[in-house]
Amino acid sequence: MKNRRANKLRVLITGATGFLGKYIIEELVSSGYQIVAFGRNEIVGHSLESSQVTFVKGDLTNIEDVRKAALGVDAIIHAGALSDVWGLWQDFYHSNVIGTQNVLTVCEELNIKRLVHISSPSIYAKADHQFNISEEEAPLENNLNYYIKSKLMAEQLVAQSAVPTVVLRPRGLFGIGDVSIVPRLLRTNNTIGIPLLNKGKQFVDMTCVENVAYAIRLCLEHEKAPGQIYNLTNDEPMPFKDLLDLFFKASGNSPHYRKLPAKPLEVIVTLIEGIFLKCRLKKEPPLTRYTFYLLAYSQTLSIDKIKRELGYRPKLSIVEGVQKYVDYHRKH
Ligand SMILES: NC(=O)c1ccc[n+]([C@@H]2O[C@H](COP(=O)([O-])OP(=O)(O)OC[C@H]3O[C@@H](n4cnc5c(N)ncnc54)[C@H](OP(=O)(O)O)[C@@H]3O)[C@@H](O)[C@H]2O)c1
Repeated sequence: MKNRRANKLRVLITGATGFLGKYIIEELVSSGYQIVAFGRNEIVGHSLESSQVTFVKGDLTNIEDVRKAALGVDAIIHAGALSDVWGLWQDFYHSNVIGTQNVLTVCEELNIKRLVHISSPSIYAKADHQFNISEEEAPLENNLNYYIKSKLMAEQLVAQSAVPTVVLRPRGLFGIGDVSIVPRLLRTNNTIGIPLLNKGKQFVDMTCVENVAYAIRLCLEHEKAPGQIYNLTNDEPMPFKDLLDLFFKASGNSPHYRKLPAKPLEVIVTLIEGIFLKCRLKKEPPLTRYTFYLLAYSQTLSIDKIKRELGYRPKLSIVEGVQKYVDYHRKH
């Protein structure tokens, strides 16, 4: 991929209409690529169009849609996924497992030169503190929630396929356009207060979304990347409370913390989630086990491999990312 001029390469991006998708488009367009942007949301999809970007409406669960979008492309970035902490298994299975299988089948049929598959470090999640996790530490099974289960199954499909694929596991995406982490945090802050377990001393490892898009381009271009799996973060793990204090100080808001005892809460959360699952309730429990683990346990990743092999260095620091986010929201 590196030997050909980027401005002649056509890249299909699934999940182009999502949070990360728009940043991947920006990164690749500025490097001269031609983009086929794939997604279901037509309004967002058409808003992405330009001289370098064509939108193709489609569903990952329909192989014909994927085939049509992939005709004539050199590479695929597969970032499309149902990305949520709660929902029905069949929805996760169809979008994330069948969707990935469809992408792999089309890659084989059309002899696509490279696939960059966006996975997730949530596959490492467990009820324990974990530091400096390396790529080899992925479990064979993790049924903590359906999202994790489906992302792990998707990775296993990739591993079994002959398609030249690079797997990227970016941790906790942060940036403008995020509708998940920060909005949830602010909502909780303004209502019940942010649950602070273990005094907020557990380590979190975030990634500015701009750095993820940059790393994806490295995965697309670097000759050493195919066949590899890479963790990705900003390489700035910090205690949860320090990150929150940084964010609230920059935004001028006051944090409302609610100190809670971790162990009794874990029992309650597990019990409530069990009831929701047994009753097949579509509504999300007030706190899922997965979110509880994020709040209670440290999880940091080793990104030595991507630094060593692809020369990745974060372009934007956490402080810069927070400032950028806050400045944007002051103006809008
Ligand atoms: N956000 C994070 O913190 C994080 C962390 C680690 C890994 N990841 C991974 O990064 C990728 C992007 O995440 P994101 O945060 O950008 O999520 P997002 O904003 O929810 O975007 C998801 C994208 O996937 C598309 N999609 C979902 N199901 C589809 C289907 N059946 N057919 C076609 N398109 C479908 C959506 O398209 P439409 O909206 O057009 O339907 C949307 O463009 C995902 O693979 C996710 O697992 C995210």
